[in-house]
Amino acid sequence: MGEVVLLSGAGIRIDRKALPPLYPVQNVDLSVRIGDRTALVGESGCGKSLTARLLTGLLPPNAVLDRGSATLLGEFDLGEEFPDEVRGSRVAMIFQDPVSVLDPMAGIGVQIGRALAAAGVAKAERRGAAVDLLGSLHIPDPEEVARKYPHQLSGGMCQRVAIAMALAPKPDLLIADEPTTSLDVTTEVQVLDLLEEYLDSSGASLILISHDLNVVDRLAESVTVMYAGQSVEHGPIADILSEPAHPYSRDLVRSSVLNRGEAAHSIAGTLPSIENVTRTCPYRVRCSEARSACSDTSLGQVPSSDGFVRCLFPLKKMPGAAGGEPV
Ligand SMILES: Nc1ncnc2c1ncn2[C@@H]1O[C@H](COP(=O)(O)OP(=O)(O)O)[C@@H](O)[C@H]1O
Ligand code: SF4
Ligand SMILES: [Mg+2]
Repeated sequence: MGEVVLLSGAGIRIDRKALPPLYPVQNVDLSVRIGDRTALVGESGCGKSLTARLLTGLLPPNAVLDRGSATLLGEFDLGEEFPDEVRGSRVAMIFQDPVSVLDPMAGIGVQIGRALAAAGVAKAERRGAAVDLLGSLHIPDPEEVARKYPHQLSGGMCQRVAIAMALAPKPDLLIADEPTTSLDVTTEVQVLDLLEEYLDSSGASLILISHDLNVVDRLAESVTVMYAGQSVEHGPIADILSEPAHPYSRDLVRSSVLNRGEAAHSIAGTLPSIENVTRTCPYRVRCSEARSACSDTSLGQVPSSDGFVRCLFPLKKMPGAAGGEPV
């Protein structure tokens, strides 16, 4: 298959009535192979969820792939109509708010049964398979939970049920968009354990979306840092946490609670407007490393042996980079 996901300079445009369009995703490169566990990180509003929605055919109706290319499972061009048959079966998404995914009018067993039906499980076997699936996700008393309705369950239990529905068809690619953000710390650990168990047993690929580097560090092997709709750095998680190349990655790591030993500092300023496409570096107004060239030079990428950085003056020489100059 090659890449499960291949985004190359991908951009998303949102059209608005009587107003100019928005460009919330402008230039995203992302390559995910079979079995990769990768993450998208960046502050709220940088385009992570829209990128995930592009990959699952769930963009808002007024949003389109506007530039670059996007290929799913090595065969589907996401610039064309989304192949509905792969959503929920080969590609599954877990959302931050599980309650929005669950049907308030249907029992849990029935809802998981629907997901199993989409995966081709015969009708007579669905109830038992739903209970087995809940049990395999360490849900206590799965028979009882299968009989309940979403409003009778805690938020953490609803998220586990939503995960059960996502995993029912044994997807090749799991996209988890802030899957633990609405959960308490104990439930978060349990949910991350469940996801890890599934990945270990299935060999599926993961795209984890999170603003929390602790969560990313727990599950992902590589990370793409996004800023203002652009992928600004990609590399192994350990490298980006210990020696980031992009000033924004460094500032993001410093502002994270991972740095408990040092005083965490928040990044001053805000994301730029998404009303225009940015040719120069979108981080320059907040960047402590900015020089005059940053205001008038189009940005390119410095590729390395296992990633890239999109910065005119990276904080380190990229491993395996030819020359170290932006291309
Ligand atoms: N349907 C929409 N209409 C207009 N703007 C949108 C829509 N969806 C998202 N946006 C905007 O696009 C930007 C990126 O959104 P999103 O991908 O949800 O960010 P993230 O997940 O990184 O927080 C934000 O500024 C958001 O307000
Ligand atoms: S291109 Fe310039 S302003 Fe942008 S991140 Fe790099 S050093 Fe900072
Ligand atoms: Mg989001």
